[in-house]
Amino acid sequence: MADPEVVLGRLVQEALAAELGAEYADADPVIRPSQFADFQANVALALAKRLSKPPREVAGQLAGRLAGSDAIDRAEVSGPGFINLTLRDGWIAGQATAQLGDQRLGVPAADSPAIVVVDYSGPNVAKELHAGHLRPTVVGDAIVRVLEYLGHTVIRAAHLGDWGTQFGMLIEHALDIGEQATAKELEAGEFTAFYQAARAKFDAEPSFGDRSRQRVVQLQAGDEQAMRLWRMLVDDSLVYLRDVYARLDITLTDADMDPESFYNPVLASVSGELEDKGIAVISDGALCAFPPGFSGRDGRPVPLMLRKSDGGYGYASTDVAAIRYRLVDLHADRIIYVVGSEQHQHFELVFAVARQAGWLTDRASAEHAVIGLMTGPGGQRLKTRSGEQVKLVTLIDEAVDRAGEVIRDRYADPVLRQQIAESVGVGALKYGDLSVARDSSYVLDFDRLLALTGNTGPYLQYATARIRSIFHKAGRDPAAVTGPVAVAQPAERALALSLLGLGRALSDVSVAAEPHKLAAYLFDVASAFTTFYEHCPVLTAEPAVRDSRLALAALTLRVLQTGLGLLGIPVPERM
Ligand code: ARG
Repeated sequence: MADPEVVLGRLVQEALAAELGAEYADADPVIRPSQFADFQANVALALAKRLSKPPREVAGQLAGRLAGSDAIDRAEVSGPGFINLTLRDGWIAGQATAQLGDQRLGVPAADSPAIVVVDYSGPNVAKELHAGHLRPTVVGDAIVRVLEYLGHTVIRAAHLGDWGTQFGMLIEHALDIGEQATAKELEAGEFTAFYQAARAKFDAEPSFGDRSRQRVVQLQAGDEQAMRLWRMLVDDSLVYLRDVYARLDITLTDADMDPESFYNPVLASVSGELEDKGIAVISDGALCAFPPGFSGRDGRPVPLMLRKSDGGYGYASTDVAAIRYRLVDLHADRIIYVVGSEQHQHFELVFAVARQAGWLTDRASAEHAVIGLMTGPGGQRLKTRSGEQVKLVTLIDEAVDRAGEVIRDRYADPVLRQQIAESVGVGALKYGDLSVARDSSYVLDFDRLLALTGNTGPYLQYATARIRSIFHKAGRDPAAVTGPVAVAQPAERALALSLLGLGRALSDVSVAAEPHKLAAYLFDVASAFTTFYEHCPVLTAEPAVRDSRLALAALTLRVLQTGLGLLGIPVPERM
C-alpha cells in the first residue's frame, strides 16, 4: 500500500514516459489536492513550453492514458490544463484494508536514514523552566518522535546552560548561606528564590561581586570545593527537570543533556582553529569572526564573539564548539535547533562560521527551527503580577485545574477524575502549541485550548475515547479487527481516503521540522470520522456493513493514537 499522492505521481510519470518519451519519466508530476476531484496533476502546464504544445492538449493525452489505471476512476482535463484525478472506491478500500493489517500503518521508512541532532528545550541550571520553555520543549519533542518513527537516528540534545560567570555568584551565595541551607532550599526546588537572592547581592554589594568573579576563576581551574557546589546545583536541577519532563511526557533524559560545560575543554582549541584558518581575528582585544553577508543597522559587519577581551569564553564560543562536535564527531547529517526567534541571528552566524571552517558541507544541513512567542491576552510576554516570568509548572497546574472543571460532572471517582484531568490539561496545553505554525506567535487562551470542539487536544482525545466506546458496546477488541474495509457512502470514502494520508503528513513534518502539519492532519481525520459517524450507523448496520465500518473505526483509532503519540499528546482511555 502506498500514499495516494505517491501512487498518482508514479502513474503520471508512467503516462509521461509512454506518451511523450522516456526522457519525461522523471518530471515532477505536480500532484496537489483538488477542490473538484481527489487530486490534480499540474504537470501539463509545467511541460507545455518545453513541448511547444498547448497545455490542454498535453493534459488530454495524459488523461487518456491515466483513465485506464486500476487506481484511477476518472481523469479529466480542466481549466488551462489541470488533470483532475478521482481514485476508484475499490482501490481506496483495498489500501485502507492493507493499512489496517500493517504494523507501520502504511508509513514507509525514510529512503536514506540520517543522523539528526535535535537541540531543544534549552534548560538552564539553577533556573526554573518558564512559560517560554514550553514551545521549544514540546515542539522539539514532537520533531524527535516523528523523525524516529521515520527511521532516522535521532540524537536528542538539550543544550543545558550549566556554565558561565553566573555560577561564581551562585556558588558564592551558597557558601554565604551555608551548604546545608543551600541543599535544603534547592531540594525543595526553590531555584528562583536562590537565584534572585544571589543576583540581588551581586548587584548591591561590590565586594560580593568581586568574590563571585574570583570564584568563577577557581571553578574554571577545577577547584574542588567550587566544583562540588557546582555539581550540587547541576544535580538538583537535573532532578527538577526530570520531574517537569515526566509530567509533560517529554522524552528527554539525563543522558540527553548536552551541557555547555562539556565543551569547556575544547573552547580554546576550537577558537584557535578558527584563528589559524583566518576566520577569526582580534578586534578590540576580543577574538571575533565576521562571516560575510551579515551587517548591522550601521552597515558594519556583525561579529560572533569567540573570546572576550578578558580571555573568557561565552555562549557563542560554546555553540561553535557544539556545532563542530555534532558535525565532525557525531557525523550529523542534519542539525535542528528548536529555539526562540530572538536567537535567529546568533544561529545564522554560527552556521556561517561552521561553513567557512569546512565543518558544515553540502552533505549536511543546519537549520534554526524558529519558535515564536506565546503571549498573554494583550499580546505581551506572559508575566506574573510582580513582573516575573510565569513558571512552566504554574501553566501546567492551571491547565490541569481547568481541565478538571471541564470534566467535573463526568466522573464520581476523584482519583480517576484527577488522572484524566492531568491528561486532558497537559494534552490541551501541548496540542495548543503544536497545532499552530511553530514560528507564529499566539495568545494563550485556556478556554480555547480546552474546548471540546474545534482543533484542540481535548477534541482529538475525545474522538479516540468515542471510538473505544463503540467497540466497548460492540463487545469487540479494536486491535483484533481486520476488515475488509468497503466504501459505499461518501462519508466512508472521505474517511478512508484521509486515513491513507498519515505517511504524507509525517513526511511533511520532517521536511521543515513542522509538527503542526501532523496536528492539522489528525484534525482532518477526526473531523472526517465525526461526519462518518453522523451519517453511517455502525452498530445497527447489517453484519457486512457493520464489520466494514468497525474496520474503518479501528483504523481511525490507530491512526489517531499513533499520530497523537508522535505529537506527545497523552491519550486517556476514557473521557
Ligand atoms: N539555554 C539557552 C537559553 O536559555 C538555550 C539553548 C539553545 N541551544 C543552543 N544550542 N544554543 O537561551
